[in-house]
Amino acid sequence: MSTQLRPTDVKRLNRQWRRRTEGRLSLIVESVTQPFNLGSILRTCATFGVETLWLAGNSADPGDPKVGKTALGTAAKVDHVRVPSAAEALAAARAAGFTVVALELADGALPLHAAPLDTDVCLAVGAEDHGCSPALLAGADAVTYIPQIGRVGSLNVAVATAIALAEARRREWASFGGEADAPVGG
Ligand SMILES: C[S@@+](CC[C@H](N)C(=O)[O-])C[C@H]1O[C@@H](n2cnc3c(N)ncnc32)[C@H](O)[C@@H]1O
Repeated sequence: MSTQLRPTDVKRLNRQWRRRTEGRLSLIVESVTQPFNLGSILRTCATFGVETLWLAGNSADPGDPKVGKTALGTAAKVDHVRVPSAAEALAAARAAGFTVVALELADGALPLHAAPLDTDVCLAVGAEDHGCSPALLAGADAVTYIPQIGRVGSLNVAVATAIALAEARRREWASFGGEADAPVGG
């Protein structure tokens, strides 16, 4: 029978994965205005070791108490930098050595499983209402979309972010084999 890990065991497990993981990940968030979405994104960034979060446009403020309701204390664990525009976020990400991959249901976008996520990658997501700006899509090195099979227009932005960050990490983790593939405690 499987039982839930205790907090100290989770900490140990997280440490093991942190030591194994080398790929660098970062994120551009463009004009995500709903505090609960930004809070959720921050928690996911902390979970997957996002190095820098660039907040472009009129994105919510990580210091807003409403962000804290979903960030649950993780805002302080993610380096975030506010930039006025997508162009500045793209330039900063490139200067830090990242390939920028925008997430959007857009012409020319590659499905996520075929997207170039194997290098040091900066993902970029767009606003809840109008998505990634033309400047962000034009300036990214690649655009990727998460295939959907239901009758829906799009995913919630925080959910799309989590799926893509998990996929970027999964690419590296799936190549380890050996001990990394063993069950917890095995
Ligand atoms: C709610 S969606 C934007 C709305 C959509 N563009 C529209 O006009 O209805 C917010 C953001 O989530 C991300 N997103 C949501 N679903 C996605 C999908 N299936 N593939 C890639 N990105 C997605 C994108 O970054 C998008 O800009």
